[in-house]
Amino acid sequence: MYDKVVVIGSLNYDVCLKLERLPEEGETNFADSVEYCSGGKGANQAVQAAKLGVPVYMAGCIGEDASGDFLKKTVEGYGVRTEYLKRVPGNSGMSVAQSLYDGGIRASVVRGANDCVSRADIDELAKMITPETIVVFQLEIPIDTILYAIDLCREKGAFIILNGAPAAALPEETLKKLDLFIVNEVEASFYGDVQIDSVDTAKAEIRKMVQRLGTDCIFTLGKAGSVVCDGTETEMIPSKKVQAVESTGAGDSFIGGLCYALIRGMDLFEACRFATCCSAKTVCKTGGQPAMPTLEEVLEIYEGENT
Ligand SMILES: Nc1ncnc2c1ncn2[C@@H]1O[C@H](COP(=O)(O)OP(=O)(O)O)[C@@H](O)[C@H]1O
Ligand SMILES: [Mg+2]
Repeated sequence: MYDKVVVIGSLNYDVCLKLERLPEEGETNFADSVEYCSGGKGANQAVQAAKLGVPVYMAGCIGEDASGDFLKKTVEGYGVRTEYLKRVPGNSGMSVAQSLYDGGIRASVVRGANDCVSRADIDELAKMITPETIVVFQLEIPIDTILYAIDLCREKGAFIILNGAPAAALPEETLKKLDLFIVNEVEASFYGDVQIDSVDTAKAEIRKMVQRLGTDCIFTLGKAGSVVCDGTETEMIPSKKVQAVESTGAGDSFIGGLCYALIRGMDLFEACRFATCCSAKTVCKTGGQPAMPTLEEVLEIYEGENT
């Protein structure tokens, strides 16, 4: 039914410092190590789908800097198509994180080139978008561009997924135009009107949201799993029991996995079970993109019959 994924979103050059404690105001201290990673929600989701082996195009902007070269090369290395990745003057998107051994983390993000994705870029993509295309958005590029692109994708009859992360105010009308809206529990509380602090509230809230929007929804609930609602059925999908070491990219891996599963013809609920296995593998390794599993690795824990 679907034959390719187009991710319209962000790419970030992630710098991650590992350190014992945060420096005090006015203090400079030593970090123990630094890691440079290709990240950004858009790129992460594209990479997960590509690692599983489906055709994936990444549309977005990178800077004319060395990090831009790195980002392009890295996602291409994972099999993501970059014909629609544009280079713009200035810096690429970037994040700097200070990561403590007790799991605490502080990070700041520079939007950089991600802020340059424009309506004109979407027009260039138009010929690629067909009813067989799954288009995936997150909220790390300009909202105006996203709203414009969603309208275009609607006209073209594509399947539209929006990951409402990071949470941002959006017109209710836009949420109603989606085929699938995916958020984690923190974002779900933002788009709904109740704090989601248990599986039971998640189930009640997701039903309300689906009714309000007329759009299928998924709430991911971290270690607890996820809830899925298509307007008729609501299902709780527990996470897989694994030795988790770091949750970076769990949600992005889930979405990339979901795209793969939809292309393979699984229904929404089965696709979520598959996506849950992708995330479970991802949280067992450190890092984002490098931690995401290949199809072979997912199949070790996925026991569905639709493979
Ligand atoms: N500790 C964990 N063990 C197993 N699976 C996990 C764990 N944390 C997250 N997951 C899986 O990853 C999915 C997405 O994680 P979540 O934290 O909700 O997303 P986000 O990264 O967007 O915050 C969850 O629905 C769950 O299936
Ligand atoms: Mg989470």
